[in-house]
Amino acid sequence: MTTAYVNGHFVPMESAMVHIEDRGLQFADGVYEVVACFNGHFLDMQPHLQRLEQSCGAIGITLPCTLDRLAELVEETWRRNPFTDAMVYIQVTRGAAPRAHLAPDNLMPTLIITSADLPKPSEAKLAMGAKAITLVDFRWKHCEIKSTALLASVMGKQEANRRHADEAFWLDSEGHVLEGCSTNIFAAINGALVTHPLDHQVLGGITRKMLIRIAHDAGIEVQERPWKLDEAGLTETMLTSTTNAVLPVCIMDDQPVGEGVPGPMARKLRELMLEAMDALRAA
Ligand code: PDD
Repeated sequence: MTTAYVNGHFVPMESAMVHIEDRGLQFADGVYEVVACFNGHFLDMQPHLQRLEQSCGAIGITLPCTLDRLAELVEETWRRNPFTDAMVYIQVTRGAAPRAHLAPDNLMPTLIITSADLPKPSEAKLAMGAKAITLVDFRWKHCEIKSTALLASVMGKQEANRRHADEAFWLDSEGHVLEGCSTNIFAAINGALVTHPLDHQVLGGITRKMLIRIAHDAGIEVQERPWKLDEAGLTETMLTSTTNAVLPVCIMDDQPVGEGVPGPMARKLRELMLEAMDALRAA
């Protein structure tokens, strides 16, 4: 049996409920975070909570508690559930009110927290690499906000799944790779690690930042600049997210990327990232 936190109370998942006029349900008027926990040690808790605060600020929601209190609630939610390695989900919505686009002032935001088993890529996926398709971006122009309005991402994943792929890469109108439906994307180009710069077209992924730091430390040049899949010297692509760490992407629109198998840069970076996670687990 799992336990959820809802607006001040820990309750069994089965009876965890929000109001049917919650603006999260009716307008996707909310923001969220997914934080990984390894044996009780959270990976980058503070950056996740700070990003949640930023997302709230961007849409004019005041968090219903301090970040310190939120960290306690997140830890307590983990403790009350049976998952050693967990993904803890935090959602804040503007609150519940009779349906009208313009919300009344002084609504009490809804805060929910749940914990689930941390999904990890299968051994087969790690050995073969993931598959992706490309789609011209049809999302909104504020992808830097971690909004619960994820319909475009759901549609992108459905299309990827229909084409037997794991992820869809969003391209801008000129063909630059922005990010995935739920991941940031990197390429190895002439030995450098390349990813789209932070702007309104991508989420500032916490794992993206970690990968950039790890690459720097390993002496790999990092370039944050627009890039395309047909760029000369591109040998690998890979994705990052809280649940995937870093995962090579070896098939793109049914064609091999580079050799079509996980390449040396992705393998090296994954090894270094997993070392950091193992160290956290053992701390
Ligand atoms: N997704 N880009 C998008 C659009 C995302 O939704 C996510 C995360 C990322 C990676 O961010 P991070 O490294 O901070 O997890 C990039 C989460 C995991 C999700 O929606 O489940």
